[in-house]
Amino acid sequence: MVGVDDEKIGSEGSVSFEVVVDGKKVATSGMMRGGDEPKFLNVDLTGAKKLVLRVTDAGDGESSDHADWGGSVLLLVPGSATKPVAIPAPVLKVDPARYIPVATVPKPAIHGPKITGASPGKPFQFMIPATGTAPLSYSAQGLPEGLTLDAKTGIITGKLQKSGTTEVTLTVQNALGSSSRKLSIVAGDHKLSLTPPMGWNSWNSWAGAIDADKVRTSADVMIKSGLAAHGFNFINIDDTWEGMRDASGEIQTNKKFPDMKGLCDYVHNQGLKFGIYSSPGATTCAGFVASLNFEDQDAASYAKWGVDYLKYDWCSYGAVATGVDEKDKQMKPYQKMRLALDKADRDIVYSLCQYGSANVWEWGADKSVLGNCWRTTGDITDTWSSLKNIYQAQAGHEKYAGPGHWNDPDMLIVGRVGWGNPHPTRLSPNAQLLHISMWAMIASPMLIGCDMGKLDDFTLQILTNDEILDISQDSLGKAAGRVAKQGDLEVWSRLLSDGTTAVCLVNASDEEAPITANWTDIGVTGKQRVRDLWLHKNLGKMANGYTKKVPARGCIVVKVGTPK
Ligand code: GAL
Repeated sequence: MVGVDDEKIGSEGSVSFEVVVDGKKVATSGMMRGGDEPKFLNVDLTGAKKLVLRVTDAGDGESSDHADWGGSVLLLVPGSATKPVAIPAPVLKVDPARYIPVATVPKPAIHGPKITGASPGKPFQFMIPATGTAPLSYSAQGLPEGLTLDAKTGIITGKLQKSGTTEVTLTVQNALGSSSRKLSIVAGDHKLSLTPPMGWNSWNSWAGAIDADKVRTSADVMIKSGLAAHGFNFINIDDTWEGMRDASGEIQTNKKFPDMKGLCDYVHNQGLKFGIYSSPGATTCAGFVASLNFEDQDAASYAKWGVDYLKYDWCSYGAVATGVDEKDKQMKPYQKMRLALDKADRDIVYSLCQYGSANVWEWGADKSVLGNCWRTTGDITDTWSSLKNIYQAQAGHEKYAGPGHWNDPDMLIVGRVGWGNPHPTRLSPNAQLLHISMWAMIASPMLIGCDMGKLDDFTLQILTNDEILDISQDSLGKAAGRVAKQGDLEVWSRLLSDGTTAVCLVNASDEEAPITANWTDIGVTGKQRVRDLWLHKNLGKMANGYTKKVPARGCIVVKVGTPK
């Protein structure tokens, strides 16, 4: 008997049950909702070798999908000598043929974005992400007027004096040698997030259990683990930091955050940046005091504390929203906070969060809003179904993304996550590689969501593959689109600034399958060099395309072409 658990009332939840015998679907319940009568599935197993009982989300996401199999029975031929045995769940190890950990390189190397922007006259901060055996020392040639570099920490600070782009040569050095590369510093209004933001946010691990100590630990680990050396630099507090307003209307922190300015300074002193959260409504999603009618005052408080990033979450705003149509309704509160942020004496990255309503990608970058990123979906969870639904839904959004304005399919779910009670992510290692790869391909913000105090080696490894991160941070800022699709087998590609093309072969099916990237689909011709970015391996030159067996619920990322 199959059905949606009666914990779900009314029509909540929608699932489909399937019985698969030796790779063939032999029975299905069709879509079932909460409140539906249970169905009886009966299957002839004569001669069967492998039986799979599968539940799907019926194609509409897994929210409220509480599925029950009731009293399944296998009837054996009377007197049968052998009994069925459970097939062990697939081992959650990455196939070594798919992923080679990044070796620790003692020689110095610079990572992260090759372009960064800020407003003239506002505080500037950029830490040069670099690896290599300590101690490292840094130098910069051609820094624009108003900026200085700390040679020991690699942190550039100051205030840009005038608009324009400056090409700077950065050098990092240790006992084993030195390494240099160019950084473009763009001075001008609204020049933030010229590449997708990278960092950490408290929600996916801690939700309401976040406090100042955990934020400090996260900042410490960001540095000590080497994540910052690969370009991760935001430390963002999500919901539940808020207290009440004082008599003059100024927002106060609650007792978990006794000194927000001090916490901000702590983060900045390590070369990192600091983010915060609010809602345009009267209250946040977790029910704390939010910014309705206090936008200017809140933006000024953030600037005073030293906030560099604001996630602005719709939440309760629906109660007061007005407008001529849905788009107008959705835009208004974000326009209002844009004006407030522009009055603040600080550059603050503006992250819109309204779950993709009214096709936010079509207006999130409008000059009246100037969002630096916008959520395109509801909340992510650490399940395969959530990941799959979210990344597949990004197809077609790519044309709206570009330097300074990015689609945001929500924060990362690798490592220990759990919204207040962290557990190891339920994604298989292959699915985790797919997650990181696709977020880099589609130029999403990369906000780690895990318990940083318990960062494991595998998570650290997959977050610090510079060949993958370089796709995310590519200066051209062209997000990947889907160029081929056959069922759950897809090819996504994006052009990179060095003239090569990043290609992701994605297999969302439950079986290993060959996938081909045809050169015609990705817009190249002739013999092309192919390099596997998780294996760090050149595969030779290929004439018409590249075909490879891709693991179930996994992907392969290659770079096609010779860098200019
Ligand atoms: C949700 C948002 C989450 C998190 C949460 C906080 O609306 O999508 O990412 O910010 O609110 O209450």
